[in-house]
Amino acid sequence: MALLEVEHLNKSFGATSVLKDISFSLDEGHSVAIIGSSGSGKTTLLRCLNFLETPGAGRITVAGETLYDGTAVTDEHALRQKRLHFGLVFQSFNLFPQYTALENVTLAVKLREPSKSKWAAIDAHGLELLERMGLADRAGHYPHQLSGGQQQRVAIARALALSPDVLCFDEPTSALDPELTGEVLKVIRSLADQHTTMVIVTHEMAFARDVADEVIFMDGGVIVEKGPAREVIDHPREERTRQFLARYAQA
Ligand SMILES: Nc1ncnc2c1ncn2[C@@H]1O[C@H](COP(=O)(O)OP(=O)(O)OP(=O)(O)O)[C@@H](O)[C@H]1O
Ligand SMILES: [Mg+2]
Repeated sequence: MALLEVEHLNKSFGATSVLKDISFSLDEGHSVAIIGSSGSGKTTLLRCLNFLETPGAGRITVAGETLYDGTAVTDEHALRQKRLHFGLVFQSFNLFPQYTALENVTLAVKLREPSKSKWAAIDAHGLELLERMGLADRAGHYPHQLSGGQQQRVAIARALALSPDVLCFDEPTSALDPELTGEVLKVIRSLADQHTTMVIVTHEMAFARDVADEVIFMDGGVIVEKGPAREVIDHPREERTRQFLARYAQA
């Protein structure tokens, strides 16, 4: 059964229509890579899923619960509850500079848990997540003491700490030097191996092909093509997908 169901999602900024009738579903434990050229609406789609933007129309359902049905959610408490279904890892890490790696991971969880007697368990879980990211020895380091790849892995641990149903990535490696990209992709690959449900916006075509179960190609705010990752990347059916992939192959 689909864990995430997106139906007929639309989003405009003023007169500009940015998402046009976006529909797709994602099974629990599966991952989908979203590819497409600049301005095609990938970030806007992730921001709508994470309730950082209000769509204009459509439906978003997670685990059978309708989170968005076409009516704008304005109540702050309701928004926070809906956002908890999703985790989002940005291109630019966005760690709090004044907090250590472990504090960055646990902060949001502690804010939701007023009973301080539970904080030791939250710290233990935070450490475990950092360990999974290969950062056990960096828990007490501040962001400026970490490489970009390490900071991004802390950001992934932070997103996982709130146990989202769906973990979203927006070009998680595009701000990194090539030698640091591999360590972040390796962590995302291991999350896929552990059947984390993920929506990954990426420009890494080989990664999308090898790690994601499915690929969605977006252009001009519409889904042009979607299907099993290897089929879409190796044997695209649509001319627009072929042209996009050919540009990447040349780069
Ligand atoms: N807050 C906003 N106000 C007005 N227009 C916006 C806003 N955010 C995005 N857009 C427009 O929506 C379109 C899609 O932008 P979006 O950032 O979703 O593209 P993208 O596929 O993520 O591109 P990139 O690969 O460069 O990150 C663009 O034309 C952009 O200018
Ligand atoms: Mg973007």
